[in-house]
Amino acid sequence: MAADIGFEGRVAIITGSGGGLGRSHALELARRGARVVVNDLGGSMDGTGASTGPAAKVVDEIKALGGEAVADTNSVATPEGGAAIVQSALDAFGRIDIVINNAGILRDKAFHNLEPDMLNAVLDVHLKGAFYVTRPAFIKMREQGYGRIINTSSNSGLLGNFGQSNYGAAKLGLVGFTRVLALEGAKFNIKTNAIAPVAYTRMTEELMGDLGKSLQPELVTPIVAWLAHEDCPVSGEVYSAGGGVVARFFVGLTEGYVNKNLTVEDVRDNFDQIRDESGYHVLRHNGNELKKLLRQLS
Ligand code: NAI
Repeated sequence: MAADIGFEGRVAIITGSGGGLGRSHALELARRGARVVVNDLGGSMDGTGASTGPAAKVVDEIKALGGEAVADTNSVATPEGGAAIVQSALDAFGRIDIVINNAGILRDKAFHNLEPDMLNAVLDVHLKGAFYVTRPAFIKMREQGYGRIINTSSNSGLLGNFGQSNYGAAKLGLVGFTRVLALEGAKFNIKTNAIAPVAYTRMTEELMGDLGKSLQPELVTPIVAWLAHEDCPVSGEVYSAGGGVVARFFVGLTEGYVNKNLTVEDVRDNFDQIRDESGYHVLRHNGNELKKLLRQLS
């Protein structure tokens, strides 16, 4: 059997790791030898308020396991906050190898009732927060020729969920972010992937009720740890994880219909062929779509 997965010498930032999924990721990486920055603003689920308690508590838990960690209570939602979080890692441990963008809030409302502040707050934490934390880390990762980035997407964005137009947009935005960073980081051994978790946390307990109790955050963490490891073989991919089930989400493109004199009637009359999923393509970047187009047109 291959050796156990270890993170000796690695430094990880895990945002929003004062509870829920982030806490589970932090404990597991620390248990396996990573030095961890436990970042958490410590606010309520809608992003209001702040407290130093949750981050400090997880640091205590890590130390009790014999691990190394520091608490950081900056918000991911501003460029200054993101820079300060990365600086915490550099000050405490002198490097940064892993960023897990996990911090999140909810402001759910049916779309017709959704006010701009509910959009802005959610985009700021999930989508812009990932930019703000990752960018200063990515610059260091390029210099050192190594990095692992994991973004937390959601099936609410990949598949849709009622009342979450703000959250779904932010979460699918993170998939685009993931795919571009995968391309830009490839030369520097920086691998970026995303997860779409399903777990029983304060965010979902009301929704899931007792049924959710088998969906412990600890069952999402193994795929996150693998994507954070130096042996991770993939970049730019999205993995679904919940309750011990791990699967891959991907974007498929149908072979489609070709007609160099295309009219709207052609689209109507060939719509089944346009939508036909047999022989679909899974493309790695937009250049591959261009290649497919050129092949079909030649
Ligand atoms: P959670 O509410 O326990 O964790 C989110 C953490 O982020 C909290 O501890 C919160 O204090 C922290 N946070 C919020 N705003 C912050 C900010 N501006 N700066 C720093 N920290 C901040 O909920 P959970 O479920 O553990 O969520 C973790 C991530 O997983 C989130 O991104 C969430 O959207 C995502 N997710 C969770 C799912 C689930 O089934 N639990 C499903 C799909 C996605």
